[in-house]
Amino acid sequence: MSKNYNQSPLPFQGQKRRFSTAFKEALNEFKTAPVFVDLFGGSGLLSHWAKSQYPDATVVYNDYDDYHLRVSNIERTNVLLAEFRFILKDAPVDKVISKEAKAAILKAIKQEEKRSGYIDYITISSSLLFSMNYATNYNDLSKQCMYNCVRKNDYEPANDYIDGIEVVKMDYRQLFDRWKHVPEVVFFIDPPYLSTDCSTYSNYWKLANYLDVLQCLKGTNYFYFTSNKSSILELTNWLEKNLGGENPFSGATKVEMNARMNHNAGYVDIMLYKRV
Ligand SMILES: C[S@@+](CC[C@H](N)C(=O)[O-])C[C@H]1O[C@@H](n2cnc3c(N)ncnc32)[C@H](O)[C@@H]1O
Repeated sequence: MSKNYNQSPLPFQGQKRRFSTAFKEALNEFKTAPVFVDLFGGSGLLSHWAKSQYPDATVVYNDYDDYHLRVSNIERTNVLLAEFRFILKDAPVDKVISKEAKAAILKAIKQEEKRSGYIDYITISSSLLFSMNYATNYNDLSKQCMYNCVRKNDYEPANDYIDGIEVVKMDYRQLFDRWKHVPEVVFFIDPPYLSTDCSTYSNYWKLANYLDVLQCLKGTNYFYFTSNKSSILELTNWLEKNLGGENPFSGATKVEMNARMNHNAGYVDIMLYKRV
């Protein structure tokens, strides 16, 4: 593997780039591990780091969102972004764009979709929509107010990003069952954030889903990611203290990272890892 990426090559919400140093340092404690299984692969960043550090190990990346397709289409995405820059060359930066410019952008997207059959809606959203807003298809995108926040530079091609990594796509429970009996396997467990609102979001993660994941921590080697917003550590400590029973985090090493959303709101991202 030639290049070591400190962050995922394309935008991905929830990627663990802030843990770059801490994760790689902690990985040193797993030198003899033959297999790493990234149950909630997301952008594949944890898989990439594991493969870079241990090229001879088997690394399995659960690409639930088909992120690898986005990576293999970077050049196509760059062409589209160049078209947006041309359409918006006289438009003020970070401001809402005109109706005409929006129509021209949508036309360019439609043409490209017809021509190549692939559009990376998430990446182009980050150049056209208000921060943290993402569309995943043409209809979604066409309904939104667009801004001129087009990235100035191309994305770097990242053809080597998942070199040597085994890419799969399935529910994490199925993948866990496939690998749980392999001696010394290490699981990367970074589930979606716990949702507390009543959205109609189809992949809505409620408390029961979040607790189900803890079954993957029983007697396994793992790296687990959460944040103080989920209160999962508080809950497991409370249960252990008051109701008895095993705490899946006992004996784990904890690393905390402060994250800031704006100047008066922040939270703590947490990584726990354990070798049995
Ligand atoms: C917090 S992200 C993982 C981020 C990743 N560690 C990174 O650094 O990019 C959680 C991922 O789990 C995926 N996911 C959601 N439900 C899943 C399921 N049932 N099985 C496996 N993955 C799932 C989400 O689509 C998302 O990509």
